[in-house]
Amino acid sequence: MRTPRKAGRAELVVLVLLVSMVAAFAQTDHSFMPKGGNVLLQQMFAKAPDADVHAVVSAKHTAAEWQDVLRPRSEGLSDQEQRTLAAYLATNMPLPTDTAAHANAASLSTILPPDGDELAWNHCGSCHSLFTGYLGQSRDVTGWHNIFLSPFHRGIKMTEQERDTFAGYAAINMPLPREKVPEDLRF
Ligand code: HEC
Repeated sequence: MRTPRKAGRAELVVLVLLVSMVAAFAQTDHSFMPKGGNVLLQQMFAKAPDADVHAVVSAKHTAAEWQDVLRPRSEGLSDQEQRTLAAYLATNMPLPTDTAAHANAASLSTILPPDGDELAWNHCGSCHSLFTGYLGQSRDVTGWHNIFLSPFHRGIKMTEQERDTFAGYAAINMPLPREKVPEDLRF
């Protein structure tokens, strides 16, 4: 247990550092991150007929089943990307019937729920370094879920479905090798 301390000079220094970290972070291009399920599905169905898009967003499968169902379309995707996509779909499909009914390749970018990459990028770098809390951490799905039990994380505004999406993505894609992380984020 940590004992509470009086705020002082050290805290001020930490605060200033945190603010500059967040500012640096906001400007960073995030293309070094492994792709999430939302982006991978858009890529896979970019040229697919409407009926195929409708079918994929209306189906319900386990992650293992999704990997089998999508195998014929998976050329060009690494094993890690295939598992990432399958985990995302197992958590997020099917979409509500009326949304699924109008789905096509062009509308996927607006109707798909956020993927693990987006969620972590938007929710995990504002209070501490993304590297120590996320990019450098090795955990399984349960381990990632446990983060939400810490008192300081209870206020994070993510739905249960988003937490599942986040944990599924992170268990497959983290930790990132240090050299893959841009230098200004390695702290
Ligand atoms: C509201 C501010 C806040 C946000 C947002 C936040 N954290 Fe944290 N986090 C903290 C604080 C405070 C600590 C404790 C710092 C310490 O250990 O001194 C912490 C510690 C951690 C730790 C180490 C301790 C532990 O629980 O194992 C990890 C890992 C972590 N955060 C991951 C994350 C991830 C992943 C996210 C995004 C889902 C996130 N954090 C978002 C405030 C936040």
